[in-house]
Amino acid sequence: MRPQIVAGNWKMNNDLHEGRKLTQSIKELQGDIPADVTVILAPPFIHLAEISREIMDTPLKLSAQNCATEEKGAFTGEVSASMIRSTGAQYVIIGHSERRSYYNETDDVIYKKIQLALKNDLYPIVCCGESLSQRENEQYFPVVEDQLEKTVFKLSSEDFGRVILAYEPVWAIGTGKTATPEQAQEMHGFIRQKIQENFSRDAGENTAILYGGSCKPSNAAELFAQPDIDGGLIGGASLKSKDFIEISKSFSK
Ligand code: PGA
Repeated sequence: MRPQIVAGNWKMNNDLHEGRKLTQSIKELQGDIPADVTVILAPPFIHLAEISREIMDTPLKLSAQNCATEEKGAFTGEVSASMIRSTGAQYVIIGHSERRSYYNETDDVIYKKIQLALKNDLYPIVCCGESLSQRENEQYFPVVEDQLEKTVFKLSSEDFGRVILAYEPVWAIGTGKTATPEQAQEMHGFIRQKIQENFSRDAGENTAILYGGSCKPSNAAELFAQPDIDGGLIGGASLKSKDFIEISKSFSK
């Protein structure tokens, strides 16, 4: 059985006070979430240690939204994978499309970050996905395959076993335009098949592939019911505790 995962990517939202309030509200409501669903909060770096304390006695997990390409040293403003791990966080989102487009992160950069995350005992949540023009030009399969080949498919199968993937079509992120369950399933099925070809049947069966892009309470159940969708990476709707919990309860498998 693959894990069922819902991760809330707060992006650059919530000051510390607001972040604590949101976490407390999620804590109050989390009893409703089935025990086999892993719920992860991904606040900004600066809140990690505080939110880690806040969720200490709960099943909630913690993720960073990014990490440095270097291990340590004179890299002003950067945050290393080991620093993230030392806060109690167990996950890190890597290669989000906003990082790829606004901060010019290439697949090489993303691969370096994945390696450092793994070395420091973090589970990388690695994002892939095509732009609107790539979707319209029907290039989405080769684009996503290329992103995977240049990053996670370069890992050993043991390392790959610790990776969580997130398919996030760029045209669906923060736009209110969700991929239809059929569009998302088609891509998730494709990704799983490529994992099987690159690693093994078991690797394909066991890798969690999350969907991200305008996922909300009204569409989560239909998305999560697809055979190859194992949960969601949630942006906007993760900032409202009720919506986030509602999404976390949307599994039927
Ligand atoms: P969204 O963002 O849910 O606001 O579309 C998803 C993401 O970027 O992870």
